[in-house]
Amino acid sequence: MDREEVLSSIRDNVENLNLVKHMLATEAVMRALAKHLGEDEEEWALTGLLHDIDVELSEGNVDTHGKLGADLARELGASEAVVHAILCHNERLGVAMETRLDRALYCTDPLTGLITAAALVRPEKKLANVVARSVRKRFKEKSFAAGASREQISSCSELGLELDEFLELSLGAMQGIAVDLGL
Ligand SMILES: [Fe+2]
Repeated sequence: MDREEVLSSIRDNVENLNLVKHMLATEAVMRALAKHLGEDEEEWALTGLLHDIDVELSEGNVDTHGKLGADLARELGASEAVVHAILCHNERLGVAMETRLDRALYCTDPLTGLITAAALVRPEKKLANVVARSVRKRFKEKSFAAGASREQISSCSELGLELDEFLELSLGAMQGIAVDLGL
């Protein structure tokens, strides 16, 4: 699949630039995870990039979010493995996680939000000066970025990853595209 084609579809379907940045962050972390775990980097990255393409199309309807995205992903030529991961990242759809790709998207999705928030509370609002230790500290503060489910992030253990390892790897991946994230 052509990344440019996917990005152009994202631009057609998503107006909110912060949402686009969230998808780019998820792409970067998923690629790093795949590399670390010896999985298919292109497939995992694509899943991260596409996973929220239907948030605006769904207009906040949590019962369709994921379904429309799965349809769009199929139209773009994504594999059924990618489609399945997109479907089960919204628990409301009741599609059970089966694969490592499903689990990777599930634990990565909220972590990108937590790391973004950890950068934004700094005076200079830059990822460059965020260290894994401070992400870990923020992780433990339940009221900080409360929408980022700690339980969901901790499910990285299902992939055989320690939490600290996951935080560090994800922070590094996001720092690598800090310019694109505007952080
Ligand atoms: Fe997401």
